[in-house]
Amino acid sequence: MANIQFNEYDSPTDLDICLAREVAQALERGIRERGVASLAVSGGKTPVGMFQQLRQMDLPWDKVAITLVDDRWLPADHADSNERLVREHLLKYRVEAARFFSLCADTPTPEGGLAAIETRLRELPQPIDVVILGMGEDGHTASLFPCAVESQVALSTNNISTVAAINPTTAPYARISLTLAAIAKAQAVFLHITGAKKRGVYEQALSEGKLPIAKVLNAATGTRRVYWAA
Ligand code: 6PG
Repeated sequence: MANIQFNEYDSPTDLDICLAREVAQALERGIRERGVASLAVSGGKTPVGMFQQLRQMDLPWDKVAITLVDDRWLPADHADSNERLVREHLLKYRVEAARFFSLCADTPTPEGGLAAIETRLRELPQPIDVVILGMGEDGHTASLFPCAVESQVALSTNNISTVAAINPTTAPYARISLTLAAIAKAQAVFLHITGAKKRGVYEQALSEGKLPIAKVLNAATGTRRVYWAA
């Protein structure tokens, strides 16, 4: 398998511009090859600038399916919902034509919503063309938290589920997350991180191979790239 390519930028804005361009190219390739393409994005603070670049890309967005790699188990209009973030910053302008696959369901717990979401995601073109991951300073990615007991199963390469319910003890809200298996078979997995601290966590994690971010990147079978700026 090819090495993980590490791309370093002078500023987060330069990174956002390049990453958006490379995501658009990968989606175009997917559309050329299968007529449709799929993209899974992360929530949190890091991707906002990249979303603003990506939504300006001239693509046949009506042929693109977009989902999240994870969400907090909240109503989609809650201030901390990843879906809300994506609706506000990505699903605008040209990208309004894309089909969005929500990870929300109207059940009190993510465990209760899993079956419906699993069924919904069967219509998402898989393997996903591009997965854009973020990473926390504890080495979590998507909502695969090292502190959560459910992460062990969700991080197994043999797991046949696309999504898992995760209850982190070190972060707020119950979560729903794509599993390692769903992420790892993507055509491309891009990790988007900024700051010296996260770079250190990433390097340490990769050298030890134990934290979720390392397990996911090590299992990924397609193109693997890191996009980093200070
Ligand atoms: C979430 C995520 C998560 C995120 C990291 C980094 O719902 O929180 O999707 O995996 O990518 O926690 O978050 P920041 O970009 O805010 O640092």
